[in-house]
Amino acid sequence: MSNVAFINGAFVPLAEAKVSIEDRGFQFGDGVYEVIRTYKGRPFALEAHLVRLDRSATALDLTQPYSHAEWTDHILEGIRRAAFPEAKIYIQLSRGVAPRDHAYSTELTPTVAMTVREFHPLDRSVQAAGVDALTTEDIRWGRCDIKSVNLLANVLARQQVKQAQVFEAILVRAGLVTEGAVSTVMVVQGGTVMTAPEGPHILSGVTRAVVLDLARSEGIPIQERCVSRQDLYGADEVFLTGTTVEVVAVVRIDGKVIGDGRPGPITQQLAAGFTKQVG
Ligand code: PDD
Repeated sequence: MSNVAFINGAFVPLAEAKVSIEDRGFQFGDGVYEVIRTYKGRPFALEAHLVRLDRSATALDLTQPYSHAEWTDHILEGIRRAAFPEAKIYIQLSRGVAPRDHAYSTELTPTVAMTVREFHPLDRSVQAAGVDALTTEDIRWGRCDIKSVNLLANVLARQQVKQAQVFEAILVRAGLVTEGAVSTVMVVQGGTVMTAPEGPHILSGVTRAVVLDLARSEGIPIQERCVSRQDLYGADEVFLTGTTVEVVAVVRIDGKVIGDGRPGPITQQLAAGFTKQVG
């Protein structure tokens, strides 16, 4: 078992995977990415991640070098080589190498990178107890639907999380909750699940879509609308969804207890349904 790297078509030891300092991903954050995890050794929702990678690339006028079939081959090969019980696959596409100039040439060859590392899912005891979050201003740009490697606002929010020793930062833009720094936020009020609508202010989460489908199939009402910070504090339940967090209850936000301070019934129902679906 070992970490695996893939760069521009070749598998190499992680320490040998290098890109030029003139790579536009390095100089401008001019690139896009995906994070995929395995369940029982198989990549979960791979097609949905590849579709989103295409969307992100297209939005930035970036040429996608591989078809879905080619990506799938590389990813499966990376998982096979790494041979971890569960893996986290990071794929990144940058515009390529060129002398520094903000404007780009459409002729550049994109740099493609992938790493496959061991994935450690959230501890079951943490899942059972729920997690703490803080809220912070959403200072990101106006195209959060693009999964861009430009993550400075997320980096700063996650550093606040680290310093406050909580689990996630919930981002608030103009008084309304958008999403988490690395997850989707869902709020339950009066039996209805509410989450921000897809659009430029959120990343359209792969897990979000799976969980909303699950809610629909279980007859749980959904409203795709933003809630205020006050609504968040007064919610019956709050939970996060995401590739790395799965479905996890938030039981305290900014030190305020949510609901009765334990994962609520709808969160538990959706978490159980999700576990069943991925298992
Ligand atoms: N992030 N919102 C943001 C801002 C995210 O960065 C992520 C995931 C999500 C959840 O999306 P999905 O369900 O497709 O994983 C929502 C990944 C895990 C990351 O940047 O590491």
